[in-house]
Amino acid sequence: MMSHVSRSHVRKQLAHHLLPATVDCVKLLFIGDIVGQPGRRAVKELLPRLREQHGVDFVIANGENSAGGSGITPKTAEEIFSAGVDVITSGDHLWDQKEVMELLANEKRFLRPLNYPLGTVGQGSGVFAVKSPKSKVQSPVVVAVLNLQGRTFMPPLENPFLAALDEVNKLRERTKIIFVDFHAEATSEKIAFARMLDGQVSAVVGTHTHVQTADEQIFPGGTAYLSDAGFTGPHESVLGREIAPVIQRFLTSMPQRFDVAKERVILHGALIEIGEANGKATAIQRISEKFVT
Ligand SMILES: [Fe+2]
Ligand SMILES: [Fe+2]
Repeated sequence: MMSHVSRSHVRKQLAHHLLPATVDCVKLLFIGDIVGQPGRRAVKELLPRLREQHGVDFVIANGENSAGGSGITPKTAEEIFSAGVDVITSGDHLWDQKEVMELLANEKRFLRPLNYPLGTVGQGSGVFAVKSPKSKVQSPVVVAVLNLQGRTFMPPLENPFLAALDEVNKLRERTKIIFVDFHAEATSEKIAFARMLDGQVSAVVGTHTHVQTADEQIFPGGTAYLSDAGFTGPHESVLGREIAPVIQRFLTSMPQRFDVAKERVILHGALIEIGEANGKATAIQRISEKFVT
């Protein structure tokens, strides 16, 4: 009889011991390029509910179009951080606002593409502690975020593939939970880049095209992937801008003023679940939330 009691006790102990390893995951929300004031408003209004509804631990957003559709300033960055975003990434619109220099020099939560020439102001990666993780298994839970830019149909930069391999090796000494925003135009470059990193990072999500793709998946090595997260802003538009001037530009080849559009604001992004212990993704889901004023 004694042995029966003790076996059940052992089983209970074992279950208690095993359970956390299977449930402890970190939930990351990534938000696609925030475009202008409508995009910033959508993040501010929708993010608290999304955080709550999905039990999000950490939020990353691409902010390269947050200031009037072009670039980012300390003011728009602060608005995005106050809305509940932990880290802001960027891309080819990085230099559109001169105030970005202040952000690059002083704000560790703001990332630029890593593959700018050596010595460029700012940082292409960062390691951050999750503020109030739901799981207490590893304390603190540490997330690394890496931002790179592609070179196909994009301004020339250093080789993002080589830069990523080198940086990921360094980051893996600090944490296995690594998120990569690959800001690139060509799907071939994005897929090849993510396949190269399969098993080395938790997720690669693309930005820049402003069109959300439907190819979310988890590669065999455990890396979650989505070619493009889409954009957060007015979708009654051409990629966030008023429609008529863009058509005029294509018709006439003459320069036009591209104001940020206003209607049908949608928050686009992806939600990723990552095993806390091994950094491997277990789920990825596209997010498309309409912002109704
Ligand atoms: Fe871009
Ligand atoms: Fe963009």
